[in-house]
Amino acid sequence: MFITFEGPDGSGKSTQIKFAKEYLENKGFEVVTTRDPGGTSLGIKLREILLNYDGDICSLTEMLIFLADRAQHVEYKIKPLLAQGKIVLCDRYIDSTVAYQGYARGLSVDAAEYMNNIATQNFMPDLTFLFNLPVETTMERVAKQGTKDRLESEMREFHQKVIDGYLDIARRNPDRFRVIDGNKPVEEVSAAVKLALETFIKQNAIIINKLKTR
Ligand code: TYD
Repeated sequence: MFITFEGPDGSGKSTQIKFAKEYLENKGFEVVTTRDPGGTSLGIKLREILLNYDGDICSLTEMLIFLADRAQHVEYKIKPLLAQGKIVLCDRYIDSTVAYQGYARGLSVDAAEYMNNIATQNFMPDLTFLFNLPVETTMERVAKQGTKDRLESEMREFHQKVIDGYLDIARRNPDRFRVIDGNKPVEEVSAAVKLALETFIKQNAIIINKLKTR
């Protein structure tokens, strides 16, 4: 089971990934969390460039580096972990490229989707959580965290396009997406995640219960 967590910067994804990991472990599954970019040792170097390089990076170069990170991540980490029967929870994946580079940077959405397919060899998540919040809230949260990285430093308009892009992707992929209202107290957001996981496990019980270690 491969589950991805998506949303704008400051949407609370990291907190909910921790919650989902604990919840699934308590159910008897082995769970590993990872992230895009930076899930492999090469990926850590690419992440550093993507988030902190202080020269110009053209939008296409940026997308290709995210995709290079992803190709490495799928091949050397995600697939091997799944083959060992682990549940993999990934902080960002293909939909980040479509939302950030496709919709917000203004590269073609079709091209972002097509190139994602090449980078991942069509390897899709089973389930994707999207945390949806107003742009003001996400930007306030990021500002409170202190220093901003290269993408977090973009203007409001960029972040609004990311959110609108995500909602459009979710509308086009209703089977895979669970859109969660992230503009609520953290316990309520976790309760929504828990309910969606519970339902997904029930619907796929025959396959998923084979993953249980106890
Ligand atoms: P993230 O790891 O969520 O940052 P943080 O550790 O600060 O929470 O994501 C890194 C940034 O990269 C984030 O601003 C989103 C952006 N991003 C893209 O623009 N395209 C992509 O394909 C991915 C995976 C991330």
